[in-house]
Amino acid sequence: MIQNQQFDSIVAVGGGSVMDAAKAISIMSANDGSINDYDAIIGNRTFEKQGPPLITIPTTSGTGSEVTQWAVITNEETGRKQAIGHPFMSPVIALVDPVLTLKLPKVLTAATGSDALTHAIEAYTSKNTMNNNSPLIDHIALEAIAMISRSLERAVTNGEDLEAREDMMAGSLLAGIAFQNAGLGNTHALAHPLGGKFNVPHGIANANLLPVVMAYNVDACPERFETIANIFEPGGRKKASDAVVFVEQLIERIGIPSLSEYEMTESDYKEMAKDATTDVSSFTNPKETTEETFF
Ligand SMILES: [Fe+2]
Repeated sequence: MIQNQQFDSIVAVGGGSVMDAAKAISIMSANDGSINDYDAIIGNRTFEKQGPPLITIPTTSGTGSEVTQWAVITNEETGRKQAIGHPFMSPVIALVDPVLTLKLPKVLTAATGSDALTHAIEAYTSKNTMNNNSPLIDHIALEAIAMISRSLERAVTNGEDLEAREDMMAGSLLAGIAFQNAGLGNTHALAHPLGGKFNVPHGIANANLLPVVMAYNVDACPERFETIANIFEPGGRKKASDAVVFVEQLIERIGIPSLSEYEMTESDYKEMAKDATTDVSSFTNPKETTEETFF
């Protein structure tokens, strides 16, 4: 319907799904075929033309989509959440105003904020950053971790706390820049099939999975998790494993629903484990993971 249409520009006002859909609309208005053809892993095409310029105005603090070249689009036939990414899909302008998030309900603040925290932690501990060869990205990710960890609970408790909302919005934007460059990890690799097949909201899937994946990854880059732990709780001498405990307790305090509310069978878990191994985020996890390990 949108292919070969002429748009001067596209303005996306909303959360991650809205901004991702706008990226897909922009790029597919200029390119042939189906969006499914451009899946970053199992697709067989690459974009040849740039679409109309995209302006993003986020109304949540979580996705980072306002500054990335990535869109996550669900293939309705297979349930696969596909990562579609290309420099042509990067927004040209992001208008970022935390006032737009002041009325965001608690559960959405908690879920989207958990997504942003996951972006920052997975970027800082990704395979791409483990050799300390990305000092700029390290700095950006650590600043995001500091802002989000000190303000997420405040923003959930009192949505009108503008200072906390500013931290959350700047933190999620910085986390977006960090993961755009460094990649993500197994939390996202598993959250994508959970969302695509069981409609688990992305932030809630991430929040439940993050401490489990951190515990799995901690021995791959303990010094990095120790740095995170000491950002979470400054002034002490925290161990790497303390970062996992902090996240577990934070997720509980902000009222994230448990995944046990979703009915899943053993064969569902097996299928998700298989999907996770072909998710682009699993390729930058700091520790090698097989289908069996995911399961
Ligand atoms: Fe995410």
